[in-house]
Amino acid sequence: MDKIGVLVTHKPLPYLEQELTRRGCRLFRLWESPESRRLEFCRQNAADIQAIVGNSNYGADAATIDALPKLEIVASFSVGLDKVDLPKCKERGIRVTNTPDVLTDDVADLAIGLAISVMRRIPSADKYARSGAWKKGEYTLTTRFSGKRVGILGLGRIGLAIAKRAEAFDCPISYYSRSEKPHPNYTYYSTPIDLASNCDILVVACALTEETRHIINRAVIDALGPKGVLINIGRGPHVDEPELVAALVEGRLGGAGLDVFENEPHVPEELFALDNVVLVPHVASATIETRTAMADLVLGNLEAHFLKKPLLTPVV
Ligand code: DGY
Repeated sequence: MDKIGVLVTHKPLPYLEQELTRRGCRLFRLWESPESRRLEFCRQNAADIQAIVGNSNYGADAATIDALPKLEIVASFSVGLDKVDLPKCKERGIRVTNTPDVLTDDVADLAIGLAISVMRRIPSADKYARSGAWKKGEYTLTTRFSGKRVGILGLGRIGLAIAKRAEAFDCPISYYSRSEKPHPNYTYYSTPIDLASNCDILVVACALTEETRHIINRAVIDALGPKGVLINIGRGPHVDEPELVAALVEGRLGGAGLDVFENEPHVPEELFALDNVVLVPHVASATIETRTAMADLVLGNLEAHFLKKPLLTPVV
């Protein structure tokens, strides 16, 4: 990939940066430019940029693509491509790749981990043990996870991996999905409200599209109810965040485990005081094993493209 110009939108994994450099790429570090000057940065370097490496927060929007006439490929360091303007890429003949499969297990592990953390109040128990409060009083009882009804929004690769894990905890599984084939062992509900009304833990695991934006709205939250737990390992905009915050503050929802937020890295401050909420900073795929595998897919896709070989994980 000698002298290939790669626009990197975000601070990458050191391994990815080292490998791109070792393979001869010229890196254009977009994240180092102030936000207001990023388009100008693209235009200034447009003659040299043939590839974009983006991620789940900063991909390739229409304006960035328009600023780069030599762009040939967007290799996203993510499975989700909601930050890439796919129609525009198709129209321009720009190839797009993502990082499917390699992150499925870690994301599913975190979904279950969040549900157990919320229900067994692991973060508050940890605070209690560290603070010395144990010596003074009794710890409040929590809620069992095993055997609870798990509803999954989106039964794709990640949704299925979550279901498989939840089955090991004897949880009956139900789901809502617009595109996946009927599942022989899991109960299907034809609307998110019906799903929420019939589960104890609702897990968001679908892709973000215009149809699934705010799929978790007031009606779904109310259907889940004061004992229900919402887990979001999808995308922040799947949830109407002000409605979620209001329901948690008012006790209309039992709890939430959130890996993603509507305006990352902003986290609504009202949530900080709540013991029934577990917040993590979009880290579902952040293990050494997965992030290294994701980097290898990005590198493999770029290399394949510039050597005119078949892409490893093409989307467009
Ligand atoms: C993805 O790959 O889309 C996940 O959100 C991890 O970044």
